[in-house]
Amino acid sequence: MQSGQAQIKVVLLGDSGVGKSSLVLRFVADNFKIDSDSTVGASYMGKSLQFNDKTIKFNIWDTAGQERYHSLAKMYYRDAQAAIITYDITKRESFEGLKRYYRELQEFGPKDIVINIAGNKEDLVETEAVPPEEAKEFASSIGAIYRKTSAKTNYGVEQMFRDIAAKVL
Ligand code: GTP
Ligand code: MG
Repeated sequence: MQSGQAQIKVVLLGDSGVGKSSLVLRFVADNFKIDSDSTVGASYMGKSLQFNDKTIKFNIWDTAGQERYHSLAKMYYRDAQAAIITYDITKRESFEGLKRYYRELQEFGPKDIVINIAGNKEDLVETEAVPPEEAKEFASSIGAIYRKTSAKTNYGVEQMFRDIAAKVL
């Protein structure tokens, strides 16, 4: 068996309030805050995970969704191996917002970047505003992995990073 280490740079993109920072906090620290502060600029967190016989270090850049910081995001995805574009399953407009991030990744991001679409706030599925089939269809049309997540309940969060590792490595 081979053993070793690998580093994967992941950037989170998506509109303000969809739960990007919350997903990172859940994955890195297994914690959740109801009153999470809106991100200013961007923030970094690192987390290692055992994946098969490798230790994977995720270098995670969590960008700010607020419009005034929008132009900064490219500094973070320029040299990333993976991007998680997040929307809030209860907010249709945050799903529409995905398309803009995808276009920008295509234009300014690495050609072979692995893209993951996260439909976050799965715990609020009773008020889901985007049919999951539509989200899956969009994801497959751009060759992305689609996964529902909840930073609140921890649904699907680690699995999303494992999906990324499997596709990047
Ligand atoms: P910006 O930093 O402004 O781009 O926002 P963000 O995408 O980082 O959102 P953030 O993680 O700050 O979360 C926004 C709000 O949604 C906070 O009140 C969180 O507690 C809440 N939230 C995040 N994830 C979930 C979730 O899975 N379920 C529920 N119910 N609420 C969530
Ligand atoms: Mg944030």
